[in-house]
Amino acid sequence: MATTLPNLQDWRFTVDFEGIAWAIIDRKGESMNSLGRRPTEELGDIVKAVEAAAASGEVKGLVIMSAKERSFIAGADIREFESFDTEPRIKEVVRQTLDLFDRIERLPVTVVAAIHGYCLGGGLELALACDWRIADREEGTRLGFPEVKLGIFPGLNGTVRSIALAGPTDAMTAMLTGRMLRPSAARAIGLVDQLVATHHNLRWAARKAVLQKRASKGAPWWKRLMLKQPIRGMLAKQMRTKTAAKVREEHYPAPFRLIELFEHYGDDPESMRVAETEMFAPLMASEGSRNLRRVFKLSEMLKDEAPKDGFKPLRVHVIGAGTMGGDIAAWCVTQGMQASLQDLDEAQIGKALARAKGLFKRQLRTKLAIDAAIARLIADPKGAYVKHADVVIEAIVEKLDVKQKLFTALEKQLKPGAVLATNTSSLKLEDIARPLADPGRLVGLHFFNPVAQLPLVEVVRGAETREGEVRKACTFVTAIAKLPLIVKDCSGFLVNRVLAPYMMEAVRRYQLGEPREKIDQAAMKFGMPMGPLELMDMVGLDIANHVGQELNLAPETDTVLASLVKQGKLGKKTGEGFYVWVEGKPKREEAVYDQAELARLGRELVKPMLDEAERALADQVVASADHVDAGVIFGTGFAPFRGGPIHYRNAEKSAAATTAAAA
Ligand code: NAI
Repeated sequence: MATTLPNLQDWRFTVDFEGIAWAIIDRKGESMNSLGRRPTEELGDIVKAVEAAAASGEVKGLVIMSAKERSFIAGADIREFESFDTEPRIKEVVRQTLDLFDRIERLPVTVVAAIHGYCLGGGLELALACDWRIADREEGTRLGFPEVKLGIFPGLNGTVRSIALAGPTDAMTAMLTGRMLRPSAARAIGLVDQLVATHHNLRWAARKAVLQKRASKGAPWWKRLMLKQPIRGMLAKQMRTKTAAKVREEHYPAPFRLIELFEHYGDDPESMRVAETEMFAPLMASEGSRNLRRVFKLSEMLKDEAPKDGFKPLRVHVIGAGTMGGDIAAWCVTQGMQASLQDLDEAQIGKALARAKGLFKRQLRTKLAIDAAIARLIADPKGAYVKHADVVIEAIVEKLDVKQKLFTALEKQLKPGAVLATNTSSLKLEDIARPLADPGRLVGLHFFNPVAQLPLVEVVRGAETREGEVRKACTFVTAIAKLPLIVKDCSGFLVNRVLAPYMMEAVRRYQLGEPREKIDQAAMKFGMPMGPLELMDMVGLDIANHVGQELNLAPETDTVLASLVKQGKLGKKTGEGFYVWVEGKPKREEAVYDQAELARLGRELVKPMLDEAERALADQVVASADHVDAGVIFGTGFAPFRGGPIHYRNAEKSAAATTAAAA
C-alpha cells in the first residue's frame, strides 16, 4: 500500500517502518480541530486505506492524534449544523459518521487515540470508538460531552460507548452535566485508559500500545451490574430528580430525553444505538437547540472581536474594595493575573481578601493553586502598585467629584500604555474624564454582580475615548475569560437599560396586587434564571431604585420600592426586601398557580424588556441586533433557549404573521 495519502487537507497520514499508521488531524486554516464534513470524509479515506493494509498484514495498528497546540478534536463543527435542518437530513449525516466510527471499531488492528488538548463531543465519541485511549496530563487537556449545553446529547453512539467504558453513573453524569474532565478524572472513571506526563510522551506511548495490542476492557462487573433492573430504573429516577432541580424539562428537554434513552435501553447496546439516533434527531432539529447553538456562536462572536495583537495584561490594580472591586480583583487572580487592591478603608480590603479565598477554593482545586492565588492578590491600601499595573480599574463610590479627584491623581502615576478604566454604572465617562490631561484614555469596564457568575463585561466607549484604549480594554476582558461587549456611553449602557423596565414592570405588578411568588414564578416559566423581585432583593433595593430613577422609570416616592428603601429594607443584605431572607434564602409562601396564567404573565413581564431592547438597537447602543442579544443573555441570563430578546421578538412577529396569513 501507499505509505501516505497525498490529497488530504485536514489530516496527515503516514505508515512508518514498524507498520504503524499515523493519522494526524490538523484542520487547514483553523486554530482548533473540529469534525466537519471534509475531515470526516478524509478520515473515511484513511480508514479505507488502513482496512486494506490491515487485511494484507501491512499495518499493525492505527494511531489517531492531533497536530494542534490546544485541541485533539473540540467537537463537531458547529458552523455546519445549520445545514442539518430536518430530521431526515440529520439522520442521514449522523448515519454516515456512525458507520465510519463502527468501521474504526471493527478494524482488526489496534487503534489508539492519543489525546492532547480539548477532546470534546464528537471528538471524544471518535476516541471512544478506538481500542485504547491515552491522554497527557497537561493543564490544557480536557475531555467531556458539552452537548447538553447545545440542547442535544451525544449522537455518534457516545451514549452507548461511554456507558460501556465508564459505567452508567459516571458516563451519564458526564453527559448530563456537560462538565469538562481533567485527564486524571477521565482516567478514574474509565473514559481514558492510560495517562502520560506531557504531549511529548504521547507518540512513544501510542507506539507501545499498538505493539502490545492494548485494548480497553470496559467498565468492571460491578458497574455493569447497575445496568440491570431494578437498579437502572432507580438510577434513572435519581438522575431525573437531580436534573429537574437544575433545569426545567419544558425549556431544556435534552437531558430528560437522554435519561429516557438510558432507562429504556441501558442494558441493550444494539437497541440503544438505534434509539440514540431516533431521539437525537428531533432535539437537533428543535428551535430550542437552534437557539442554544446561536448563543454559543454569539459568545464566539464577542471573543473574536477582541484584538489579538500586542497588549498582554498581567497586572491589575483595583481601587475600591467593596462589592464590585473586591470581586473584580479576585476574579482576575483566578485567571492567572496579579491583582493589587486599594481602599481608603483597610477593613474593606480585609473583607475582600477573605471573600476572595472562598472563590479561590471553589474555582481552583489544588492547594498549590489556591496558595499561589492568595499570594497574587495583594492588599495595597496606599496604591503603591499603581505604577506597575497594566490595567487600573476604579470601583469606588458612585460620586462624580470623588471619582474625578481620584483619576486626576492616578493619571500622573500610570505607566505608559496602561489601561485606565472605571466601573461606573451611571456616570458619564466624559464627565469623569473632564479634569484629566488626557481624557481620551479613560474607558469604562462595567462588570456585573456577582462578578464570578456573569460572563459579560460592557466596555464603554466614552465620547472622547480613543479607539486603541477600547481595543486594549477588550483584550483585557478576554484575557480574564469574560466576554467584552462594546457599548455607547448612554444611561444604563445596554444591560441595565434593557433590564430596568422589566424590573419596574415587576414592581408595578406587585403594587397592583399580584403575589410576589407568582411574579417570580412567571418570569422563571418564561425562562429567566431567577424571578425579578428576588433578583432585586439580591442586587439591593437601593441600587435597583437608583437605576430606575436614573432611567426615569421609577418615581421618587409612592412606589413600593421607594418605601421599602425608606424603611431600610434593602433586600438580602438587610434581611428583608420584597422577601424576608433567612440564611441567605428568601422565605416564600407556598402556592400553586395555573401554568397558562403564569406563561401569560411571564410574557407580559418581559414585554417592556423586549421593547427597550429594540429601542437600544435603534439608538445604536451596540453594533448590531446580535450584540443586543449577546449582551442581554450574558449580562442578565435572559432565557438562552429563546435566543435573545431581539431574536425572540422577531420569532414572535413571524409566528404572528404566519398565523394571520393562515386565518
Ligand atoms: P461599595 O460601596 O460596595 O464599595 C465602594 C468602596 O470604595 C468602599 O469600600 C469604599 O471604602 C471605597 N472608596 C470610596 N472612596 C474611595 C477612594 N477615594 N479611594 C479608595 N477607596 C474608596 O460600592 P460597589 O457597589 O462596589 O460599587 C462601586 C462602583 O461599581 C460604583 O461606581 C458602582 O456604580 C459600580 N457598580 C456597582 C454594581 C453593583 O451591583 N453594586 C454593578 C456594576 C457597577
